[in-house]
This record gives sequence, C-alpha cells and structure tokens, in this order.
Amino acid sequence: MNPVDAPSATAPAVLPRHLGIIMDGNGRWATRRGLSRSDGHKAGTEATRAIVTRCRELGIRHLTLYTFSTENWKRSKDEVSYLFNLLASFLSNELGTLMEQGIRLHVLGEIDALPFATRQALQHAIKKSAQNRDMDLNLALNYSGREEILRAARIIAEKAIPSEEITDELFSSLLYTAGQSDPDLIIRTSGELRLSNFLLYQSSYAELCFPDTLWPDFSPAHLDEALADFASRQRRFGDAH
Ligand code: IPE
Ligand code: IPE
Ligand code: MG
Repeated sequence: MNPVDAPSATAPAVLPRHLGIIMDGNGRWATRRGLSRSDGHKAGTEATRAIVTRCRELGIRHLTLYTFSTENWKRSKDEVSYLFNLLASFLSNELGTLMEQGIRLHVLGEIDALPFATRQALQHAIKKSAQNRDMDLNLALNYSGREEILRAARIIAEKAIPSEEITDELFSSLLYTAGQSDPDLIIRTSGELRLSNFLLYQSSYAELCFPDTLWPDFSPAHLDEALADFASRQRRFGDAH
C-alpha cells in the first residue's frame, strides 16, 4: 500500500503509513554516563513515550516498536527481568494516554513465554484498547522475524492449504501484522546497520534509515528529520526510472 498524504501542516508531504523502529542504544547511552544498563532502558522509555505521541500527532497509521527479540533472552537474568518489569509499569502508566489518543495496542511475538505480570498488563491493555482506531501500536516482543515466517509455514502445513492458494496475500495474513500494510520506513537508532531479525518478510521494500543517535536521546525532532529524509526518497518498487 502507498504511504498516506500527511494530514497536518507540520508533517512532511509524504508520511510512511507503517513505520518500524528498532530502538537500539540504551546500553551504550548508560555506559557513557557511568550508569547501569537498566538506567539506559528506563531513559529509553521516555523517548518511547514522546515518539509514540509524535507519530499519533502526525497521523502515522501503524507503528511497530522492536521491544525485545527472541535473542535478547541471552542477556543477564537481571536485565531481562528489569526490562519486563519496566514494560509492565510503562503499560499501566500509559494506558490512559493510549485511550485518549485512540491508539490500539498489539503484540507481535509469543506472549505466553513472558512473566505473568507483564503478560497480564499486556492482555489488559490489548483488550481495553481493542476498539481504538486512530493508530496501531505494535510491540514486537519476544519477536523473531524468522520464527514469524516459520509459524506461518506451520499454520499452512497444519491446515493442509493447497499450494496454489499460498499467495503473498495469504502468507501476509498469517503473520502477526495481518491486516496492516507493510512498513514503508524502518529506522534503527544507534548507528548499527542491520535488521537483527526484525520484520523480515514485511520489510521487502521498506526504506531504511540509520541515525547515529542512541535511543534515549532520540527526540521527536530526530524523528521529523528521518521522516523528511523518507519524504525525499524515490521509491521504485522495481519499476524503471
Ligand atoms: C535496545 O538497547 C534495547 C533492547 C534491545 C531491549 P540495547 O540494550 O541493545 O543497547 P546497546 O545496543 O547495548 O547500546
Ligand atoms: C535489536 O537490538 C532488538 C531490539 C532493539 C529490541 P539488539 O541490540 O538486540 O541487536 P544486536 O544484538 O545488536 O543485533
Ligand atoms: Mg543493542
């Protein structure tokens, strides 16, 4: 699907309809300040709050935030449990704002493996926000792009879907992002130049943007810069030019 025309005067002429963000650099932000990695994650949630609000203000339809990958379980037990506690309190603090702003929460990933309190907070927020229509906020949580593709393949096998019915449309409908357009733009902060297993199927024609800014420092002004860069790009989708 094509990006949407921007609704507000402050927004660039062309906005991504679906924006994906790999929120990276919390640990380095903290280390540079002599703080703990947990302090970095805490600071990261402040950036998250401001960016979600800016996206809603601009009229971005779908926002996917890479919050915890399946590979992130390799981190220390303390860091992992800090991250999930932080998420649970972020959700309880922000649910009112999500409701006011008409934002619907979704999780991309296997929620069953998460700690009970986090799962409960997520399920509550998902249910409460289910009728909101102004923006989808997808948290990629315990998420792996490869695992998402394998999961779709398993569903196909279990249902014995005939090979001629296995189209891009059908496959997309079996992914966590079913019903949402593919990301037009993926931003990864902190200067790392890789996708780290993020939206592998859906990112086929996404524009990529790699600002050096570490996630806790990533402000709405930085987002606006990335969006202006996106608006200036010529997307060809394989067409002649
Ligand atoms: C991103 O920041 C947050 C998560 C992956 C949960 P990092 O924790 O990866 O920060 P760096 O890459 O170590 O700086
Ligand atoms: C990707 O960042 C995952 C999230 C931002 C949640 P990582 O920091 O885990 O990725 P790598 O290990 O540098 O590739
Ligand atoms: Mg990282």
